Amino acid sequence: MLKIGVLVSGGGTNLQAIIDRIEDGYIPDCKIVSVVSNKKDAYALERAKRHNIQTTVISKKDYENEELYNEALINHFKSKDTDLIVLAGFMVVLGKNFIKAYQNRIINIHPSLIPSFCGKGFYGLKVHQAALKRGVKITGATVHIVDEGTDTGPILIQKAVCVKDNDTAEILQKRVMEEAEWIIYPEAIKMIVQGQIIIGNGGK
Ligand code: GRF
Repeated sequence: MLKIGVLVSGGGTNLQAIIDRIEDGYIPDCKIVSVVSNKKDAYALERAKRHNIQTTVISKKDYENEELYNEALINHFKSKDTDLIVLAGFMVVLGKNFIKAYQNRIINIHPSLIPSFCGKGFYGLKVHQAALKRGVKITGATVHIVDEGTDTGPILIQKAVCVKDNDTAEILQKRVMEEAEWIIYPEAIKMIVQGQIIIGNGGK
């Protein structure tokens, strides 16, 4: 049974997609052991509670520095015996100590086809605004392993989404979520659980 820890900051629609696909049996043999938010009012926490998943708030502001904050996150996930860390809209950049503690066992979803529209400053609506500004006809989403860079880790799955005439960043963001993010994030986790994608210590 793969034990999953999820880090969130906001609405939690990707968390919801993962929960739903675990509950309907699409992703077998795993359990979300903890959902951690850096913000106490993140709606993602409500989603987790509704499914009887343990939630915790660990805020950066309660720690003297980044290292201690990351240490608190590490200790929390270690106490839950976590195998895989899933970033689902977590708006804090993880520290070196965290990346090292869970090397190759942290995954993230980014709302573009990496290496386009990614890296520092590309988050939330900004990604879609940049795609529209550049005039690309295809965008999408990427699930990747998290390394010490920003959106630089190995790519696991990508899915393309068409950009349509008259799209606004908001409309495009919604289409990328519906047609790509909510599909490929559960898919990546399923592949990790089933050993079709080998990460970290061999997927367990
Ligand atoms: C998603 O667009 C995801 O790609 C990005 O942050 C957003 C989180 O949305 N990393 P939600 O909280 O899962 O609804």
